[in-house]
Amino acid sequence: QAKSLFSYNIMLIGFMGAGKSTVSSYLSHLLEMEEVDTDKLIVEKEGMSIPQIFEEFGESYFRNCESNTLIELQKRKQLIVSCGGGIVLREENVDHMKKRGRIVLLTATPETTLERVKDSTERPILNNNMNTTFIAELMDKRREKYLAAADIIVETDHKTIAQISEEVVAKL
Ligand code: S3P
Repeated sequence: QAKSLFSYNIMLIGFMGAGKSTVSSYLSHLLEMEEVDTDKLIVEKEGMSIPQIFEEFGESYFRNCESNTLIELQKRKQLIVSCGGGIVLREENVDHMKKRGRIVLLTATPETTLERVKDSTERPILNNNMNTTFIAELMDKRREKYLAAADIIVETDHKTIAQISEEVVAKL
């Protein structure tokens, strides 16, 4: 049983490359809380990679998997949940998350984001769009949703994982 300071879940949201997974694992050690990652849970359950899921079943199927994953997590507490970057696209997901924890938004500029994601082939949305123009446009489209969901916002540009994580904890 976790003896953490926090009785609620900590949900990390933000655009691809915002640092959700790395911050999640750092916080998990720091706070002695279990971490889960919605993308990883989906990959395990479906037995396919995220690019494969997008390719074979399409994005809306993947979005259904995300909603189902959140529902499956609803009985668990004291988790650090690293959410897929598109989790805020469905309002029902945001409503669900708001009831179950504190939502931490990590942000980064399009330039920082590109640096962090450019070598990855695991993000179908960026596969043919690895440039700051596309990233900036998609960020603009999603910005309002991220901001509306967030309880706490932490900028991540030019900061270490430790700095970002400590800032998150200070604001929780
Ligand atoms: C997505 C973000 C990805 C993953 C999928 C779609 C998105 O997660 O869920 O490729 O639409 O922003 P990360 O934010 O962990 O890269």
